[in-house]
Amino acid sequence: MTTTATPTSYIGQALSRVDGRAKVTGEATYAAEFDPGPRTAHGVIVGSAIAKGRITEIDTTAAGSAPGVIAVLTHLNAPELPYQQHKSLVDAQDGERIHVLQDDRVVHLGQAIALVVADTFENATHAAALVHASYAEEPAATSFEDAAARALPPGPGNAKSGQPGDTRRGDPDGALQTAAVTIDAEYVVAREDHNPIELHATTAAWDAGTLTVWDKTQWVSNTRAELAATFGIPPENVRVISPFVGGAFGSALRVWPHTTLAAMAALHTDRPVKVVLTRRQMFPLTGYRPHTEQRVVLGADRGGHLVAIRHEGTAETSTYEQYAENLLGPTRFLYGCPNVATRYRLAELNVNTPCAMRAPGEISGIFALESAMDELAEALGIDPVELRLRNDADRDLDRDLPFSSRSLRECLTVAGQRFGWDDRDPRIGSMRDEQGRLIGFGCSSATYPVYNFPASARAIVHPDGTAVVSSATSDMGPGTYTSMTQVAAETLGLPIEQVRFELGDANLPEAPPHGGSATMGGVGSAVHAACAAARGQALEQAGETSSHADLTEVMSRLGHSVEAGGDYRPGEDTARYSMHEYGAVFAEVAVDPDLGLVRVPRVVAAFGGGRIVNPKTAHSQAIGGMVLGIGMALLEHTAVDPRDGHVINATLADYLVPVNADIGELDPVFIDEDDPHVNPLGVKGIAEIAAIGAAPAITNAIHHATGLRMRTLPITPEMLL
Ligand code: MOS
Repeated sequence: MTTTATPTSYIGQALSRVDGRAKVTGEATYAAEFDPGPRTAHGVIVGSAIAKGRITEIDTTAAGSAPGVIAVLTHLNAPELPYQQHKSLVDAQDGERIHVLQDDRVVHLGQAIALVVADTFENATHAAALVHASYAEEPAATSFEDAAARALPPGPGNAKSGQPGDTRRGDPDGALQTAAVTIDAEYVVAREDHNPIELHATTAAWDAGTLTVWDKTQWVSNTRAELAATFGIPPENVRVISPFVGGAFGSALRVWPHTTLAAMAALHTDRPVKVVLTRRQMFPLTGYRPHTEQRVVLGADRGGHLVAIRHEGTAETSTYEQYAENLLGPTRFLYGCPNVATRYRLAELNVNTPCAMRAPGEISGIFALESAMDELAEALGIDPVELRLRNDADRDLDRDLPFSSRSLRECLTVAGQRFGWDDRDPRIGSMRDEQGRLIGFGCSSATYPVYNFPASARAIVHPDGTAVVSSATSDMGPGTYTSMTQVAAETLGLPIEQVRFELGDANLPEAPPHGGSATMGGVGSAVHAACAAARGQALEQAGETSSHADLTEVMSRLGHSVEAGGDYRPGEDTARYSMHEYGAVFAEVAVDPDLGLVRVPRVVAAFGGGRIVNPKTAHSQAIGGMVLGIGMALLEHTAVDPRDGHVINATLADYLVPVNADIGELDPVFIDEDDPHVNPLGVKGIAEIAAIGAAPAITNAIHHATGLRMRTLPITPEMLL
């Protein structure tokens, strides 16, 4: 990056969050907390009681006359909406989104079939229980096994993932026949729901044909575009405001039915309407990480060099949309194997559509691949770290491109040393702690793509030396407010206290989805460009010739504000290089041989995420991701009744995530990585890579401790007894 030399160097400093005080004092306003006035009504969704069929009758008489009820919307009286075509970067599934309350068709359990609008949330909730629907039920596809038998390759229209059904490089079948050692194993990863602490919510208000929504979203620009298309109005007539997001993990990347319902009800009742999903409703009315079943076949020579990989995966999707993700992409390039085949299939079920959940696809695919690598290491009698090092790639053989930077080897080496891998006695069951628990050490590689999305930003500098820098991005927790303020202050050459960063408003310069670990690289580069332009203009207009000039002094001399825009557009290097983050994760487990309980006393990881803008927020990102990986291994599981797709554990009491007592020592490090190709800031991304690799490191450690291969996640105690 080229910055003018200034006395204000902030990039790389471990600063505390600029919005930390607002968050911990309750000053930060979340989607459900906006109050557009005393006429605001509350909408509560009624969900379908069947998984597939038609609504034959819907009786709203009792609900309509219940206390405080303003309106009951069903497909019989809801406004007909144009639902113009809208395809966006990440929610462009193949298929057709559910058009809420537009017809009598039911395609999954819990689908919105009515919205009760009342003066209070309590009155709306009461009346919603009085809505009675009758159905003509049809046989629903709710068994994964049955659907998997008819599974299909993904269609052509999945814009973000572009996931292929079948790929082949070289001759994997031939190579497998002559391989000295082969591994052939099947792996299952359970469906997981995001469960951010902040519930999904939308408040909507119309004013003379203009719609304002206060929404929980990772992408205000897309919410605006989709609502404009749904209601058939110009995008400039939709304002989407979302300054704070209390966790999302990908669940707020697309527009869900409740957002459309809030806007529809506000139109119908001519009042602002607020819809807050309950925890239970989040399961059928937003997305989730799909259940996946995979098979990995590895072939190697005696020297531990991979000669062939076959990796097949089937994931659940809905009957009305195809959600495809990058399950098998890592397998195609991570190791230098000449013969690789992948096969991806989608099993259509009468469920709501899955969606991106932190490291979507990669985390599940890497679990299978890295588990199989551990099985291969055992079969060959080669140290698992050494096996990975021997198969390091010096080029992306899948896309036939050089890597922009490649830190897998360094991650494995650095994290292995920090963990004390050499202390491992490789014999199974050979290590115990003082409580008699079996100790195991396991490791995994990790990788995640560098996504580069176009972004824009604006910088305004005032005569008093304060600056407001903005972009329509989001901050779902990683610290966007803070890291962007650092980039802005350093580039402008202003003390950071004088700089404020604004986000979460669709009227700000357009930004890409706050996802794919891409915000810092794209929006950060746009912020840098806008601030460099604003500083340049200020100096020029003030006739200042020294590039080192104090901008506060220059602005005071200038006496008027300066404004500049800045854009980031992915450069040609994006097509010339294969760009990825890398990681290596090492876990220690302690297994109680009598109770089957697994504890994880420590996880050490090294990540190559390019330049680190803020080591403090980066550390928080990393430990959050590692906790997610521990949860995937041991706890997280959306339990579905195969008879109708009903989620059995749709509460935070029953849906298990790691709590503080489940987490031991987490020690993530970021290796120094200088990648000149990724973007002007040299930033790769750290959110998703940090979640990848912990689960296979844990299962591989369990094998080392017990000799048992855990190929189904999450691992429950009975599986170890
Ligand atoms: Mo993340 S799944 O890219 O929000």
